[in-house]
Amino acid sequence: MDIDKVPKSVGKTLEIKGWVWRKRESKDIIFLVIRDSSDVVQCTITDRHKDFKKAKKLTIESSVIIKGRVAKDKRAPTGYEIKISKLEPVHIAERFPITKDKSTEFLLDTRHLWLRSRYLTAAMKVRHTVIGAIHKFFRDRGYYEFDPPIFQPIQCEGGATLFEVKYFDDVTYLTQSWQLYAEAAVFALEKVYDVAPTFRAERSKTTRHLAEFWMAEMEAAWMDLKEVTEVAKDEVRFIIKEVLKHNKKELSLLGQDIKKLERIARKPFPTITYTKALEILEKKEKLRIPWGKDLRTLEEDKLMKHFDTPVVVTHYPKEIMAFYKPRDPKKPKTALCFDMLAPEGYGELVGGSQRDTDIDELIKSLKKMGESPKGYEWYLDLRRFGSVTHSGYGLGVERLVAWLCKLESIKDSIPFPRTMMRFRP
Ligand code: 4AD
Ligand code: MG
Repeated sequence: MDIDKVPKSVGKTLEIKGWVWRKRESKDIIFLVIRDSSDVVQCTITDRHKDFKKAKKLTIESSVIIKGRVAKDKRAPTGYEIKISKLEPVHIAERFPITKDKSTEFLLDTRHLWLRSRYLTAAMKVRHTVIGAIHKFFRDRGYYEFDPPIFQPIQCEGGATLFEVKYFDDVTYLTQSWQLYAEAAVFALEKVYDVAPTFRAERSKTTRHLAEFWMAEMEAAWMDLKEVTEVAKDEVRFIIKEVLKHNKKELSLLGQDIKKLERIARKPFPTITYTKALEILEKKEKLRIPWGKDLRTLEEDKLMKHFDTPVVVTHYPKEIMAFYKPRDPKKPKTALCFDMLAPEGYGELVGGSQRDTDIDELIKSLKKMGESPKGYEWYLDLRRFGSVTHSGYGLGVERLVAWLCKLESIKDSIPFPRTMMRFRP
């Protein structure tokens, strides 16, 4: 039986299978705290029992099958206890290398074992809900799941962060975004989405950047900037609600304030322009940023001090934006694009835009970044055959999980993090 069902079985005898999480012993009694994927529970055995010797041999992380009667006990960690009637060691573990107060680096080196911690287990359960919620959100709204290639010969988000890979006798890159291929798909399926691995050779040692992460992207035909930002807000709100529905226990264990998340899920998320963001920074933070400069982490954090929900920022300067973001005909210095920023210093959750449909503009932008338009001929074709307004965005799954779980680092939102500093184990 799963350990989380134990409280419902007071007075009954049941069997649990799990691992020794804590052990405390005196001469005549042994207290074991056993964990399985669902929870932990205290189990006790006294020296009068025939299996007492077996219990004595159990080490931390040994696997064990226990039968016993459930009783209420205020002193036990979860308020319940199993009085052992049968104890069957399955495997006696060697001395477990992870003990209290190990360094972050040590825990990353032993990630394959640290995954068993209650902390990471809780974060992985929230991640599971987040990914399930993304699929549910889009499928319920008539979007088709559309899988992109992972090997991509052209770039989407700038050459500096491309991972080059040998491809038989040629070279290609690992995907930075599914977007360009999704743009081909909307002319067939109209509304598409995906959750897929994404790669960026980020030379930054921040708590927000991974070299391998999962991006949830969407792309839709007939959709403009205003409409697509509303989809992004709805999606994030939907995910928060799903996490609140399924993961209250995990959120508490991780130290997250559930009431706060409930408040956020009820509130509208504001939309402001980049220009307005600069005004807020100047007025409230005495921070003067020349118009045209991108917002750095520091500035995003200062801006978000003045909001308690995610905020959509639109109309960044066209000159510093990716090649596919179109100029706003009404404000030609700006692009029809947006970012959604998280509160509490968790940075950019979502990046998206309307897509440029003007071939000449696209070619100009590509040339400006030193790209040969030749490789993009297939992409330009999408503007030659029944072109329509279309938009999309990408949501960083790990950024969202890190924020929802109040994690100190994005590394704990993914099982085996890959960063500039590490690709093992
Ligand atoms: O803003 P980005 O670069 O947008 C794109 O790639 C678009 N082509 C998406 C689209 O329109 N379909 O990335 C989208 C999101 C960011 O807002 C951030 O949450 C996450 O992906 N992200 C990262 N997460 C972790 N580590 C990194 N190195 C990340 N880079 C981006
Ligand atoms: Mg971005």
